[in-house]
Amino acid sequence: MQNGFPPSPGSRELKVGVVGCGVMGRGIVQIAALAGATVYLVDSREGASQAAREELRATFAKLVEKGKLDAAAAADAGERLVACKGLDELAPCHVVVEAIVEDLEAKKSLFGTLEGIVGSEAILASNTSSLSVTAIAAGLQHPDRVAGFHFFNPVPLMKIVEVIGGFLTRPEITEYMLALGRQWGHTAVLAKDTPGFIVNHAGRGYGTEGLRLLAEGICSVPALDAILRDTAGFRLGPCELLDLTGLDVSHPVMESIYRQYYEEPRFRPQVLTRQMLTAGALGRKVGRGFYRYGADGKKEAV
Ligand code: NAI
Repeated sequence: MQNGFPPSPGSRELKVGVVGCGVMGRGIVQIAALAGATVYLVDSREGASQAAREELRATFAKLVEKGKLDAAAAADAGERLVACKGLDELAPCHVVVEAIVEDLEAKKSLFGTLEGIVGSEAILASNTSSLSVTAIAAGLQHPDRVAGFHFFNPVPLMKIVEVIGGFLTRPEITEYMLALGRQWGHTAVLAKDTPGFIVNHAGRGYGTEGLRLLAEGICSVPALDAILRDTAGFRLGPCELLDLTGLDVSHPVMESIYRQYYEEPRFRPQVLTRQMLTAGALGRKVGRGFYRYGADGKKEAV
């Protein structure tokens, strides 16, 4: 890095842009602001960045009520949230993390636009779950400053982040992102730019194989979840996890990993999740996935 740019991960001078104020973006903003960075929020949906800022301030207030956060720290983090109207407001950012739709062209186009806005030394990071970081960076003026920065849902609770270097990424960029992830309170691990990185690759043996058990009629959804949750030590069974993430997010990830591995049979997604996606049974967010969810969020077997 040149001339102390960007500031060290713990510095209160650090300015971080987060593009996409959905589930993941809001989580990333939360941990970044609580760690002392000034965070600039952008979303293409009108009013979304302002709504995310207010929601996060309310979250900080709740954490104070529960005794999990100091009132001064909550006020400081709340003041560090800058709701932007457009990407051009990200000009002062040292690091921009994107958490927009999982679509290669959308991410490439966003980073292309950002290159014309941020300084040439600013780091561009992607929260992609399944796309190639090398592909996202390809065609940019400075592909060597692009890295994957892959968090898990819910970000404040799932304290792990994968840092991925693309083919051209400079080692000091991944080193900086590893240090940043740690400073934000997460275990940061370096992964090669391969389909699914570490977690979603290893997870194929868990989720995809679990779905195969269902497709072959070997067990029920609750039985599959209970076995893996209560005996194998996972916090959620595979169907519970898919319901939490939403098939609109996770089914394309399954398909993408399968395609990127040249259709290797062990990664093949199941027809079942494609049908559920088509039927709109996405999971918790619509009240129906592998389980049905009541207004109180309680699940029952279908
Ligand atoms: P989401 O749908 O909750 O949020 C995406 C947000 O980005 C929306 O607010 C949308 O308005 C905004 N957006 C879309 N295109 C945009 C653009 N061009 N410019 C600015 N804003 C734009 O999605 P979610 O779940 O937060 O996922 C975001 C990214 O994180 C995806 O790449 C996804 O694969 C990845 N991811 C998701 C995880 C999950 O469990 N939901 C886990 C890890 C990664």
